Amino acid sequence: MTTGKQTSKILVLHGPNLNMLGTREPGIYGTDTLDSIDQRLVTMGREHSISVECVQSNHEGELIDILQARASSVGGVIINPGALTHYSIALRDALSAISIPAIEVHLSNVHAREDFRRISVTAPVVTGQIAGFGPEGYLLALRYLIERGAS
Ligand code: DQA
Repeated sequence: MTTGKQTSKILVLHGPNLNMLGTREPGIYGTDTLDSIDQRLVTMGREHSISVECVQSNHEGELIDILQARASSVGGVIINPGALTHYSIALRDALSAISIPAIEVHLSNVHAREDFRRISVTAPVVTGQIAGFGPEGYLLALRYLIERGAS
């Protein structure tokens, strides 16, 4: 009988507008595409026998649906909620409801930008936040989850 969590899986969730990476405000977000970031994550995961599943959605409810559906079968979540970071109590509640580690990642240093970006309603309910390291931030988050054995 198969029950509960499968081993060796990490879910990566990208929020609104991150599908535009590569052309979106390259001075802030760089020129790497989301696909190239996902490829690096999948490759790093594979090197550690971990399956990395990457999903992007522009829709708050869809991100919540995916979190709810997948949280019991993955060992950790890496999430860049995009602008939802700053106001989505619904996403915060969804993150708060899961019992696996979740790392919040931002490409840009949100603390060095507009005042509204300094507020993260999601940060208090995740394991930690990484901001300002560009795509490397996702890899740092994955490394943390791998070393912590959260697979
Ligand atoms: C972002 C920062 C957010 O403020 C912004 O709305 C984004 C991207 C980042 O990765 O730096 O969409 O999450």
